[in-house]
Amino acid sequence: MPEKYSLYKAKMQQLADISHAASVLNWDQEVYMPSKGAQFRAQQLSTLAGLHHQFFASDELGEILNELNQDDSLTFEQKRNVQLTLKDYTDNKKYTTEFVQKMSKTVSEAFIAWQEAKQKADFTIFAPKLKELVKLKREECEILGYTNHPYDALLDQYEPGITVAELDEIFEGVKEQLVPFVKEIFAAPQNDESVMFQHYDKDKQWQFSLDLLKDMGYDFDAGRQDISTHPFTTSFSPQDVRVTTRVNENDLSEIIWSTIHEGGHALYEQGLLPEYYGLPQGSACSLGIHESQSRLWENNVGRSLAYWQYQFEKLKKYFPEQLKNYTEEDFYKAMNIVKPSLIRTNADEVTYHFHILIRYEIEKELIAGNFEVDELPALWNKKYRDYLGIDVPSDDKGVLQDIHWSHGSFGYFPTYSIGSFYAAQFFQQANKEIEGLENMIQKGDTSKLLEWLREKIHKHGRIFEANQLCEKVTGEKLNFSYFMDYAQKKYRSLYNL
Ligand code: CO
Repeated sequence: MPEKYSLYKAKMQQLADISHAASVLNWDQEVYMPSKGAQFRAQQLSTLAGLHHQFFASDELGEILNELNQDDSLTFEQKRNVQLTLKDYTDNKKYTTEFVQKMSKTVSEAFIAWQEAKQKADFTIFAPKLKELVKLKREECEILGYTNHPYDALLDQYEPGITVAELDEIFEGVKEQLVPFVKEIFAAPQNDESVMFQHYDKDKQWQFSLDLLKDMGYDFDAGRQDISTHPFTTSFSPQDVRVTTRVNENDLSEIIWSTIHEGGHALYEQGLLPEYYGLPQGSACSLGIHESQSRLWENNVGRSLAYWQYQFEKLKKYFPEQLKNYTEEDFYKAMNIVKPSLIRTNADEVTYHFHILIRYEIEKELIAGNFEVDELPALWNKKYRDYLGIDVPSDDKGVLQDIHWSHGSFGYFPTYSIGSFYAAQFFQQANKEIEGLENMIQKGDTSKLLEWLREKIHKHGRIFEANQLCEKVTGEKLNFSYFMDYAQKKYRSLYNL
């Protein structure tokens, strides 16, 4: 290995050490930190962020990267690592200190305003700060640069390579196929979901969630599960990947699908190769691909009848009284209820994409300057009426529900939908390549599936761009029809359509 490359690698590992140290503090803040710890914790995190920025923006690192970028003796993988780091480095250099500080200040203020606005269900409290933030985001598009649509510059931060042109095509599929299909479901008689809403002891639910993670192949010697209000996954290295979940004594579904979802994210992080720690090759491909891993486990596996043909018996051992009058088919129907909802995070796996479609249409036009912040609530409410047929009673249940915009995260939402669409495409391919996969799942054995995901997706890290990876794995780029086929097949049978 060229000496310069070793030096580059050592520097990248130090950078990773700093950011993972911050991750430990963040994890602790969400899970264990006492309330008085907040003030100095904020300071500690800000110091680490400053160090990371200083270190990453150093001219010395820039020189190493530029030199290596000209070095023809590097292997394909080494070259790709250098290229990706150089892109991150160059993007980072485009921002002036003044802009970074202004953004960070505006985000802090916007977040506080959003919290108050949400609590009081009053968009006008958030609007002035959101206006400033949108103005800065529009500036950011110009700073970063784009070819066709300003929103492309923001998308690239979360899903490198994807563009408005591609997303328009994908969401056209949602509008033309999924929207009418779901209207058919809405018109059909509803299934019974009462099995989910009984009293279920918290400790037993917790034990069952640990079983679920173990069965998926989550390595407890390289991670742990805790409780937090909003479930999340965080990684300090592939050998320490933490998950959190939440538990509701009167709704069994919360813990089950939160756990499986985060478990899917965690399996991806545990499947990255430790020898590439700190390098792009040792980190996740994109947010969309990350979400594909959580959704594949949560929905394609975790909401299938095959999966519960095994797991339902195990669940029954914990809750014999509550489940004695129900079959696994009843349970399967209850976990797949489709109905219109106001809140994105409570939506089922099909109407979920209406929520994302709405945010995508709004963000794209807002960033392009085609309408202004004051028009947001009216536009939001109209779209919920058009797509979901429901009236939004107040802003807290509408335009104010999600935290993302207050954080300045524009371009993030689409990754949720494409994650599901990638998941459907990957799962279909896994079924083609792994003989008898459904039978294995019925018997509680998902090890071959995990092996397949490790080999095809996890171990590559960021070496391939998402669309390239998708082509490598499935032979074609992201194609919405796989999700549509999956939804049709599953819900036509569930709702007798
Ligand atoms: Co997720």
